[in-house]
Order: sequence, then C-alpha cells, then structure tokens
Amino acid sequence: MPASSLPPSPHVAIVGATGAVGVELVRCLEERNFPLASLRLLASPRSAGRKVRFRGQTLTIEALGDDSFQGVDLALFSAGSGLSKVYGPKAVAAGAVVVDNSSAFRMDPDCPLVVPEVNAETLAGHHGIVANPNCVAIIAAVPIAPLARAFGLRRVQMATYQAASGAGAAAMEELRASTQAWLAGAAFTPQVLPHPYAFNLFSHNADVDVESGYNGEELKVIEECRRILGAPELPIGVTCIRVPVLRAHAIALSLEFDRPIDPDLAREVLAAAPGIRVIDDRTRNHFPMPSEAEGQGDVLVGRVRRDLGDPSGRSLALFVAGDQLLKGAALNAVQIAERLLPVPAASAPAGELVRA
Ligand code: A2P
Repeated sequence: MPASSLPPSPHVAIVGATGAVGVELVRCLEERNFPLASLRLLASPRSAGRKVRFRGQTLTIEALGDDSFQGVDLALFSAGSGLSKVYGPKAVAAGAVVVDNSSAFRMDPDCPLVVPEVNAETLAGHHGIVANPNCVAIIAAVPIAPLARAFGLRRVQMATYQAASGAGAAAMEELRASTQAWLAGAAFTPQVLPHPYAFNLFSHNADVDVESGYNGEELKVIEECRRILGAPELPIGVTCIRVPVLRAHAIALSLEFDRPIDPDLAREVLAAAPGIRVIDDRTRNHFPMPSEAEGQGDVLVGRVRRDLGDPSGRSLALFVAGDQLLKGAALNAVQIAERLLPVPAASAPAGELVRA
C-alpha cells in the first residue's frame, strides 16, 4: 500500500479507548485537529455505554466485536497484544489501516515500525498494519537518530527510569493508592505490579529471561531501536527500571561515535532536530525531568556532555525525558496516522501539546 493510504477525512476507531493510552489518543486527535469523518470508541463490555466528550459531541463507548470495523478507514489499537493479534487482521480485512500500539507486530517485516521524525519513509511499504514502537524505543530514538546521522553511531548504553503509565491505567492507580497508604501508615498489597511501588523502584516488571538475565522490556528496546535506526547490528546495552513517576519516562544515554565528539556541536544538532526541546542549563542545574515532560509532545534532552567513561573522547552522555503516554504512545500513533493522510494534516506541532 502507498504511504498515503487513507482518505482525506477518514472514519476512525480507537480500540482500548478507555485505557491510559486510549484516553490520550482521543485527546491527541482533538488537539491536533486530525481530520476525521467519524470516531468510534471501542473497549471491553465493562465500559460499553460510557460517555466521552469529543469536539463538543458526546460519544458512547461500544464493546469491541467482530463487526466493529465496518466502514472504518483507520483503527488505532491500544488494548494489548492479544487483542491486536485477533482484531488487527479483522480490521485490515474490513478495509482499515491499523496503527497498533502493542508489541504484536513490531518485529514483523511486513509491518513498518515507525517514529515519524526518524523513519517515516518506511511507511511506504506497509500492508495494512503499522506498528507503534515501545515507549522507551521511541523516546530514545528521537535524540539518537539525528546524532547518529551527524556523527556515525557505534554503540548505545542506556538506563531507564520508567513511569507507571507504561503498565496501564491500573498501575497508575496502584502508584497513587499505594503512596496514599504509605503516607497513612497503612498496609498495601500490590495487585498490578509485582513489588511495592511507593517510595521504591524495581527492575522492570516484564518477564526475565533466566539465561541472559535480560527482561522482556530490555530485549524489546534493543530490537526495536535497531529496527527504527536501520542498524540491525548496533550494540545496545540497557537496564530498565520502574520508578514511582506517573506518566513520563527518563533515560540516561551514553552514545559512542566514530570519532571524538564535541558536546557543543552535538547540542546544536539536537536543538535543530524535530521533536526535541533542549533543556541543558548547567548554571541553574536545570535538566530534563519527568514533571516537565508530562503533557509535552517533545522529548526533553539535556546533560549533554562528554562521557568520561570513554577515554577516547568518542562517547557522549545525555539525559532525556518524554511523556510515555504522548510521544511514547498516543502522540506517535497519531503522528503516524497523519503521515498516512493524502495531504499533510494542518495539525499542531508536537510541542504545542502543552497542558497545565
Ligand atoms: P476497559 O476499560 O473496558 O477494560 P490499559 O492499558 O490502561 O490497562 O487499558 C487497556 C484498554 O484495553 C482499556 O481500554 C480496556 O477497556 C481495553 N480492553 C481490555 N480488555 C478488552 C477486551 N476484552 N475487549 C476490548 N477492549 C479491552
């Protein structure tokens, strides 16, 4: 299918519209003036009948079913990989293009894995399903890609500080409830995440491969970053940690390049790249923070400095933060959909997605 595979004003469905990402998908469509003819909101039967406001209208949540995609041109999925595997192909068979936020199709060579600022050109090869990458892979790829283009990337090392939102709305609620219980001195038994979350952090809750010691999140980040950056052999080391933050991830990055790197030049490259806001104020000790990334479409990038762990001078250290629910999920999906429109949407740039 050609990249511009949607009509100018498509009929749109959101699968998982009541979830942490689904709610943001609805907001992004509204705030970016996405041109659409109609919007259908789908979730489990538990949510059927609930009302949601969209562009001054009241929409009713419907239960997802086999007939949900009749007349739908674009289906945005965010209800987990199990449902994507079952209903994604049904949506395509009904004539829709699917942008899928789950991990179901991310390594399928027929399904482009897209961060629009980095590899929008790969959309041209889609066969009905486009995969929205893992949140860490997106937030890392946005600053890595322009530096890789400018300086030639050899190796990536990263440590993540991941918010509750990546584990869904129920995990965000568990963080709130367990923090309140902790402050009240009350007992709290975690139901969603495997460990106490209040005033604590722990290795990412994805299953651990006992042989390698890497967890599923880390393996996704490695594979997906390689695919997005078009560098299948790129050495990447990563440690993924869940921290008690609601909805913005942070990442400490160390990038090794082909030759010695000038941090000032790197900062200029980052400042000129799309989807990035540089926050790098050494005097005031002001650098990217999850609290400032929240509600922002841009990835915040700072602490740009030579990595003294590499005496050759070829490595750069930086710290980034990005809203997991926006650029890490819903916003990236909507930006993909915008690229599938025949005429580029007259939508807001990412940075204007600021909410108080
Ligand atoms: P519901 O709210 O009705 O359970 P999150 O990632 O925040 O946990 O959200 C998951 C999303 O997936 C929610 O919108 C949820 O709807 C939806 N979902 C879960 N199970 C189903 C299902 N069986 N059919 C359709 N949607 C589902």
